[in-house]
Amino acid sequence: AHPIPVVARTRAELRAARAALGDDVAVVMTMGALHEGHATLIREARAAAEHVVVTIFLNPLQFGPKEDLSRYPRTFESDLALCAEAGVDLVFAPTPDVVYPDGDPGVTVAAGALGTVLEGQTRPGHFDGVLTVVAKLLHLTAPRHAFFGQKDAQQLLLIRRMVRDLDVPVDVVPVATVREEDGLAMSSRNTYLTPSDREAALALSRALRAGAAAAAEGPSAVRRAARAVLVDEPLALVDYLVLVHPETLQDVPEWFHGEALLAVAARVGTTRLIDNLPVRVG
Ligand code: PAJ
Repeated sequence: AHPIPVVARTRAELRAARAALGDDVAVVMTMGALHEGHATLIREARAAAEHVVVTIFLNPLQFGPKEDLSRYPRTFESDLALCAEAGVDLVFAPTPDVVYPDGDPGVTVAAGALGTVLEGQTRPGHFDGVLTVVAKLLHLTAPRHAFFGQKDAQQLLLIRRMVRDLDVPVDVVPVATVREEDGLAMSSRNTYLTPSDREAALALSRALRAGAAAAAEGPSAVRRAARAVLVDEPLALVDYLVLVHPETLQDVPEWFHGEALLAVAARVGTTRLIDNLPVRVG
């Protein structure tokens, strides 16, 4: 029983609606096709700030030419219902020509070396596209807090780096990965999965849990345990499975003690999935 959120489509509409909210605003940025993971970000944002702004924008700049932009699920009406249910004050849902009035921007944010590993290796330019739109949406929505999910750990790390390196005046708040009951990390892309893909996709989270269970035995045991689960699932084509330092994304050495990131990417059917788990090794 919340009032229906205001929907802004243009910069002028956003400016007017944003001005009415005052300073204590938290933003949750999304590409739509909202699920319980997004809803959790919104709930945590609501607990932290007086007002919540959600952006729904399928950002073409972060998709490669052979990626899934054209088939990405577009579910605006149910997204809006979820936002209403969750008590969102303002939804900014622009079209690409509103965000990029001159077409592709000539000036963009460069993710640097951290943007070239893991996801960046398979998706060149992806993180430049992410950081560019995140910077723009931060300027447009002017929040005090911005909430991002651990599900996209490299994205979260790069957004934190951008905020630090460019002195962006916003407090970045991480939110733990929300999972289905069987362990599958929630994702808008899960809708692509056939029933047999969906079953195979469970190997990712199962591998992460197996790795975490071996944490006391050190990095190579973690990698071995996780790898063993994935090789058992022929329908999951592994892109990478790594145990890395959470800040440098470099492989942790065998003598490493402390919190590392166990991260996996795999193709299942036509769908590319990612997942990760923080693991305290040693
Ligand atoms: P999208 O994939 O829609 O995700 C929006 C936000 O929800 C991100 O911060 C993401 O990490 C978070 N999220 C998604 N699934 C989650 C889950 N299962 N548990 C916790 N958080 C989850 O990430 C993007 O959009 C875009 O790259 C964006 C940042 C909006 C820039 O275009």
